[in-house]
Amino acid sequence: MKRKQKRKNKGLTVFIFAVFLACAVFTVYMESKHVVIEFYENPEVNVNETADNYQFIKTLKNCKILTEKTEIDTSKVGKQSIDLEIKPSFGRKYVTVYYVSVVDRESPKILFTDFWETTEGEEIDLLKGVSATDNSNEEITVTIEGDYDFKTPGEYTLKYVACDSSSNKTEEEFTLKVKEKEKVVATVAPVTQPTPTTPSTEKEPTTKYETVTFTTSKGFSGITRDGVTYIDGYLIANKTYSLPSSYGNGITGETQKAFNTMAAAAKAEGLNIYIVSGFRSYDYQKGLYNRYANRDGKAAADTYSARPGHSEHQSGLSMDVNSVSNSFAKTPEGKWLAANCYKYGFILRYPEGKTNETGYIYEPWHFRYVGTDLAEKLYNGGDWITMESYFGITSEYK
Ligand code: DAL
Ligand code: ZN
Repeated sequence: MKRKQKRKNKGLTVFIFAVFLACAVFTVYMESKHVVIEFYENPEVNVNETADNYQFIKTLKNCKILTEKTEIDTSKVGKQSIDLEIKPSFGRKYVTVYYVSVVDRESPKILFTDFWETTEGEEIDLLKGVSATDNSNEEITVTIEGDYDFKTPGEYTLKYVACDSSSNKTEEEFTLKVKEKEKVVATVAPVTQPTPTTPSTEKEPTTKYETVTFTTSKGFSGITRDGVTYIDGYLIANKTYSLPSSYGNGITGETQKAFNTMAAAAKAEGLNIYIVSGFRSYDYQKGLYNRYANRDGKAAADTYSARPGHSEHQSGLSMDVNSVSNSFAKTPEGKWLAANCYKYGFILRYPEGKTNETGYIYEPWHFRYVGTDLAEKLYNGGDWITMESYFGITSEYK
């Protein structure tokens, strides 16, 4: 009886031990299959930089990410929460959330006139013609630093200060010259007034332009009328063909309308496109070009900035969008525009690798309105043809 009891106890002990061992093995096994998702601390990415979820994940064990979209929208500054759908090796799928901060560390760029001239008592708006651009969609405020007085002649050295909402600041110096008013010298009127030879109503002489017609090397007919050249009816402004200094007074109505339609279509896809530099007058372009030429030398400036009278911005048909930076090409907005702008009548005017045709380096931000017919031809299924190559014209300074 005792022996039987002993054997029974022994059997029970073995059983308990076996159960315990099985539990331990199971626990260790399950532990080895435990889901581990570890993110880097305070993940941050620069605005408009390409980023995807995987670069912020430090450890990913025993699970996989089901969320298909791995790219992160970095077009807006701020903290954003990202939902990731996780499928553990064992168990049901679930959603985990992590945060990425999209930051802007780049200072705004200012396009400005570096020399203003006025006459004593004649005020000018020094903020007119200054535009600031940024790599983000943040609002940029431009202020003037320094003391000046339109009533006191002299030369004032002042500063434009552009600041974005992330407190990145750019300062650029400019000069304001206030000239003395010409003194009116009182003279005694002669008794007999000579008869004026020119009637007082005569207008200031204006430059006379000859009308010239020509045919391009590709057989298109061109005409230069009032100093403006049209080929096959399309206005051309490049290094060969210029515009008169008085030409242009803003973005043309048709261009603006087409841009608005395009911006609305982009918005429907969650993208934000906006003009950072549209119409630029002859004088504004002169200031801009001179500043670049002083900074980088004329030869270098000529590769990216048009001389006054040669900028397409003066035509009112062109605009720079979002960010005057090469990285714009990689943003969702940059990619969308390159692939869709032709549907709204716009072309990427200075495509990559076409400097020998256009005369300018690649500008993924500069678009030109030509209407949908020509835009579709120049889009050429994504392999852009330049206006110069299509029409058979040059872009070279004489
Ligand atoms: N950046 C272009 C070429 C212009 O200055 O008009
Ligand atoms: Zn441009």
